[in-house]
Amino acid sequence: MLDVCAAPGGKATHLAALVGDRGHVVAGDVHPHRLRLLRANLRRLGVHNVSVVQLDATRSLELGADKKRFDRVLVDAPCTALGALVKNPELRWRVQRNDPERLAALQLVILQHAAEVVRVGGSLSYSVCTWTRPETYGVVEKFLSVRRDYRLDDLRTAYASRYDKFLKEDGMFLSLSHESGSEGFFAARLVRRESP
Ligand SMILES: C[S@@+](CC[C@H](N)C(=O)[O-])C[C@H]1O[C@@H](n2cnc3c(N)ncnc32)[C@H](O)[C@@H]1O
Repeated sequence: MLDVCAAPGGKATHLAALVGDRGHVVAGDVHPHRLRLLRANLRRLGVHNVSVVQLDATRSLELGADKKRFDRVLVDAPCTALGALVKNPELRWRVQRNDPERLAALQLVILQHAAEVVRVGGSLSYSVCTWTRPETYGVVEKFLSVRRDYRLDDLRTAYASRYDKFLKEDGMFLSLSHESGSEGFFAARLVRRESP
């Protein structure tokens, strides 16, 4: 598995625990200071099945000549983080009016590069801790309009009983703080198929 925006490692360490010794997680991030946090968390938790790499996902992620492909790739993208308002109320003064569009554009670029390193039949998960329309649904719609070799997976098939109230009719995950009492979060899973 590849975790493209991994620091400080909340999801990478969870993924590592889930795959155990049946798999391996490559965890990347662009910022050296955040990679230090990631490494410290891996050490603290005694995680051994994660390799850390510095990468910039706004550029090609093809690593080396062997054109490595991953079974699963996660893009937990930089976002407006408005889902965390319950925890960090000061965010409302930090987020600028054009941030949703600006960050949605960045997320789409990252997602497109991540899409290149998923094997056929593998999955690309996109998540953000926010709920603005340009990020979340807007990014998924734009991605699917240009990547005909991907389809949207219906998360209800795999997770219906556990996350019923967050799984929408389109098969994507959305939790809103005023409904859930916890942080806002969005996720969608895209599956790579043979190029049409
Ligand atoms: C929402 S945070 C990730 C949180 C992490 N997945 C976790 O569960 O702990 C987004 C991350 O994306 C990283 N990032 C931003 N731009 C990036 C880029 N161009 N390439 C790779 N990582 C990037 C940031 O440094 C930040 O650590």
